[in-house]
Amino acid sequence: MEVKKIFLPESELPRQWYNVLPDLPTPMEPPLHPGTGQPVGPDDLAPIFPMALIEQEVSQERNIDIPEEVLEQYLLWRPTPLYRAYSLEKYLDTPAKIYFKNEGVSPPGSHKPNTAMAQAYYNKIAGTKRICTETGAGQWGSALAFCCALFGLECKVYMVKISYDQKPYRRMMMETWGANCVASPSTETKAGQTILERNPDSPGSLGIAISEAVEAAVTGENSKYSLGSVLNHVLLHQTVNGLECQKQMAIAGDYPDVIIGCAGGGSNFAGHALPFVRDKINGKEIDIIAVEPTSCPTMTKGPFAYDFGDTVQMTPFLPMHTLGHNFVPEPIHAGGLRYHGMAPIVSQLILSNIVRPVAVPQLETFQAGVTFARTEGFISAPETDHAVAIVIREAIKAKEEGKEKIILFNWSGHGLVDMAAYEAYLSGQLSDHALPEDEIKKALKDIAPFPKPQQYTG
Ligand SMILES: Cc1ncc(COP(=O)(O)O)c(C=O)c1O
Repeated sequence: MEVKKIFLPESELPRQWYNVLPDLPTPMEPPLHPGTGQPVGPDDLAPIFPMALIEQEVSQERNIDIPEEVLEQYLLWRPTPLYRAYSLEKYLDTPAKIYFKNEGVSPPGSHKPNTAMAQAYYNKIAGTKRICTETGAGQWGSALAFCCALFGLECKVYMVKISYDQKPYRRMMMETWGANCVASPSTETKAGQTILERNPDSPGSLGIAISEAVEAAVTGENSKYSLGSVLNHVLLHQTVNGLECQKQMAIAGDYPDVIIGCAGGGSNFAGHALPFVRDKINGKEIDIIAVEPTSCPTMTKGPFAYDFGDTVQMTPFLPMHTLGHNFVPEPIHAGGLRYHGMAPIVSQLILSNIVRPVAVPQLETFQAGVTFARTEGFISAPETDHAVAIVIREAIKAKEEGKEKIILFNWSGHGLVDMAAYEAYLSGQLSDHALPEDEIKKALKDIAPFPKPQQYTG
């Protein structure tokens, strides 16, 4: 019988995360303080993050130890299995071999607790009592709620309103783990009130929810803020995924020609791909593809520029691909991909031609998700379907080229609490949103006066 899934024993759980910063061909440009225009220092970030995470944000250590307490908790669901998608290969009649890493086996059902667990731990030992955060589709909020429960921390979640309405079960999961979750924009913060004054029917966005969570952390007692993507330390924690994949691919006796992951803020994609990025920097030929929605085309349409990470301008200026912090994407079902910016590390890798960004329309993603469910059985999160769609495109391309390519992708989460999205698709209620070129131009005007990074592409 063919081997369908490759497990690693618990003893093979990676003991260190991989930090790509010292290996980047072009060094990153620093985040800037919006007031002074100078690089931000640890003191600027201390009100919102514990010092251990701030140190990781700028660390030049290639390998960073995973604390024992985090390793113990990772063992609840890690190492995660690597699957060979035989049925999908057969259905597509492709010579490509398709592997997928199943991050959907974590208690909240996605890759998100890889960093949530680490962030909860570092906050706990720094004396934080309450962590505030934003969430899009609810995957991140539920992951942080779960990890806060394990470390005995309070958790406050601002959930983008459109997803709050579309996905009540995610809120219920957060509440089951003891978190408090409100729809964003909310009336609880000044940031939320400002947005609601401008647009009482705002569907919300990740940028707005971040503003609310940062404000709640800064004004709350013993509170810190936690971000589920974008920042260097978040991408670092996610590399446990790619490091496991490297061991599992070695057991399979294959090495990927193509690596695919969907990208909202970039941590899911990066956690999977970065250990292979190191191989590519060292000479391996790999096509490393980051996938985004055409309705929020940060990497494929947004310039590399300095911009705020949030809508109400509370974060530092980050050097990244951006659609402008005021850009509010169409309310597509892949809520976790509705973010105006892209992780500075991923942005830098795009500039260096190491990562290739691709955008895919909503209908194609659901079509791919249904094909995947009817062949491999698993029902993917709408975000994950973006990766599946490009896997299918690449497998068909391999067939046309007559090449036995090895395709590896990150199956970032299950969609079992996203069934309303599938229902909308299956009943023909979904459409592809036209590219909001005017909206993008308008939002980009707002960042025109900001300082420009050296590699500015506007
Ligand atoms: C299932 C799933 N996959 C991928 C992503 C995108 O993650 P990131 O923001 O780290 O790129 C999300 C974000 O919420 C998600 O929920």
